[in-house]
Amino acid sequence: MEKIIWTLGMLLLSDLCAGQNILPPGPLSGAVADTVVFSTTLRPPASPFLSISWNFKGVNIITSTSTNIIDPGYANRITLDRATGSLELRNLVLQDGGEYTLTITPDGGLQMQGRIVLNVYTPITGATIRSTAAVLIEEKSSTNLTCEASGSVSSREWMKDGHLIQAGDMISFSADNSTVFLHPVLSSSHGTYQCRVSNPVSAQTADFQLTVNCKNPLCAPRKQLYL
Ligand SMILES: *[C@@H]1O[C@H](CO)[C@@H](O)[C@H](O)[C@H]1NC(C)=O
Ligand SMILES: *[C@@H]1O[C@H](CO)[C@@H](O)[C@H](O)[C@H]1NC(C)=O
Repeated sequence: MEKIIWTLGMLLLSDLCAGQNILPPGPLSGAVADTVVFSTTLRPPASPFLSISWNFKGVNIITSTSTNIIDPGYANRITLDRATGSLELRNLVLQDGGEYTLTITPDGGLQMQGRIVLNVYTPITGATIRSTAAVLIEEKSSTNLTCEASGSVSSREWMKDGHLIQAGDMISFSADNSTVFLHPVLSSSHGTYQCRVSNPVSAQTADFQLTVNCKNPLCAPRKQLYL
């Protein structure tokens, strides 16, 4: 009995979902100047759809019936797949980010709808690490390493010698992770720092060699101590 109820429930649910959204959950990610395809979950019907209509922020991008009516702003940027309702959008700009809605009227049967969010990102370029102090003495000096990059930055990660850096007594991060504070630097702070800047369409890693001098002028050279 339980099994039957469960099966009925699943059937109802899948029916509801089918009626609810003919686009995948999303969001879609696209890079500025690139192309995205909003693919529907539909198979080409035996008899062509009566009408397909794509909308974005109150603009009717295209309505396709026996003829196509295309918004002038999209004239050379879109291609509609009449068989599935899928839409290709080219030459993306940041302003293309937002929710797209689709309405399809099949030849017989109920109207179908879909909605999907597109996020547009500027690719990450020019990632570099900047440091504040020139000469660092262990346990005496402090420094800040700042990771800079152009583009839509979604996240930053700091690594030292290939390992993710954990915040602690001597190490902290700015709220957006753009700066790591080393206060003070220790002999163990010496090494190669990496900052990985990324967004859903791109990533870049910047390297920085931090040299920490020992406070005892007679101490052994770094290489012998730490390799
Ligand atoms: C590091 O940044 C913090 C916060 O901006 C600042 O207070 C501190 O003086 C900086 N330290 C160095 C060594 O530049
Ligand atoms: C900052 O970095 C930590 C650890 O690397 C990560 O858990 C956190 O999500 C990051 N925050 C931001 C705003 O990128």
